[in-house]
Amino acid sequence: MRVIAIDGPAGSGKSTVARRLAERLGLEYLDTGAMYRAVTFAALRRGIDPADGDDVARLARDIELVVDDEGVRVDTVDATIEIRGPEVTRAVSIVAANPAVREEMVRRQRSWAESRGGGVIEGRDIGTVVFPSAELKVYLTAKPEVRAARRSKEVTDLDYQTVAADLARRDALDEGREASPLAEAEGALVVDTSNLSVDEIVDELQRRLP
Ligand code: DC
Repeated sequence: MRVIAIDGPAGSGKSTVARRLAERLGLEYLDTGAMYRAVTFAALRRGIDPADGDDVARLARDIELVVDDEGVRVDTVDATIEIRGPEVTRAVSIVAANPAVREEMVRRQRSWAESRGGGVIEGRDIGTVVFPSAELKVYLTAKPEVRAARRSKEVTDLDYQTVAADLARRDALDEGREASPLAEAEGALVVDTSNLSVDEIVDELQRRLP
């Protein structure tokens, strides 16, 4: 099984880099953040409080969840757009901090990779927890103002200050939580993407592949 693990904070360039690397290598790509967002979406839709650990954990085990090139579907409902919206973005950190939800997502991520012979997988705990023996582990980072500028280009309905504040809040929650906090994996290649183009980053990753 050929797994490439890409972790890092929001706006570090993970999705763009992971997608392009997957294309070049002929592998499939998995956005695990979309999975935590999809569970959050499902909870909000069913009126479950995202902070209710047991109910959200049960939901995470029960829902049918598909994340692929066409988008994200939760129990056949298309959630591609809504998982990026402000309600889900506000509530996702508490769902991602739930250890039982994480356990279920990790189980699904491993089975996704096993059934495909591997893939390029991005998230926060891929190199540290999900695939510590991945053939390449990468930790992408960038200056906070660069990351906030990238995010505010994606979310056109919010101003830069709001996006920057939200990013800082989520970074603190992702790094500070007890269950699988965002951290550099042992042996990870650390790349600061602040001043690099996507192709420069992907070239560097390809050079490092065994
Ligand atoms: O990458 P993103 O912004 O779509 O991720 C959404 C949230 O999910 C973010 O707050 C971090 C969390 N997450 C996580 O805890 N573990 C992962 N493997 C991926 C995302």
